[in-house]
Amino acid sequence: MPKYSFMLNGQKVQVDAPGDLSVLWALRDKLGVTGPKYGCGINVCKACTSHLDGKAFNPCVTNVRDVAGREVTTIEGLADGDDLHPVQEAWLEQDVAQCGYCQPGQIMAAVALLARTSDPTDEDIDAIKNVCRCGSYFRIREAIKAAALKMAAPVDGAATPVAAATAESQTLPATGAGKTAVVGAAALAAAAAARLLRDEDPQGA
Ligand code: FES
Ligand code: FES
Repeated sequence: MPKYSFMLNGQKVQVDAPGDLSVLWALRDKLGVTGPKYGCGINVCKACTSHLDGKAFNPCVTNVRDVAGREVTTIEGLADGDDLHPVQEAWLEQDVAQCGYCQPGQIMAAVALLARTSDPTDEDIDAIKNVCRCGSYFRIREAIKAAALKMAAPVDGAATPVAAATAESQTLPATGAGKTAVVGAAALAAAAAARLLRDEDPQGA
């Protein structure tokens, strides 16, 4: 069986698999990375949305041989250690997730959108095609706008870089105090939600 190596969330990995195995199944079944969800397998639902070389892509329709030597980022690789990405923070603050199944893909699509436009319009957000069967689109919209403000806000007098990645193509659609301000029961709830957003798998999916 051929072997394919690529960078996954900052670490080199190797997959022993047929070249036409989809990246989604390589991630989920061979590497145990289950943040990217399976919904349709035909690039329609966008539940699997992740990043390839900093751009949004759909691993369900990408062969593993086509990512050899490249950089794949999933929802698991978005946070910087314990520091959530601003989009993840906005998602928590806007309490976006309902069942949660689509949310890793939604967040990855939102990050991609904000990488290519720091001040997205409603039209930009509407161009995101990630499906949410729970209908969380309004909260997704609010979270994206909140994240855009966070990412544009000065930090210690300096402007924050909008984003590292240069996403394209993809396609996407928060009250609470900041992460560091939540206490007590709210903190517990936020921590649970953070786990959900990093690698949500509420039903072992
Ligand atoms: S699983 Fe639906 S687009 Fe990938
Ligand atoms: S939150 Fe349930 S599918 Fe989107």
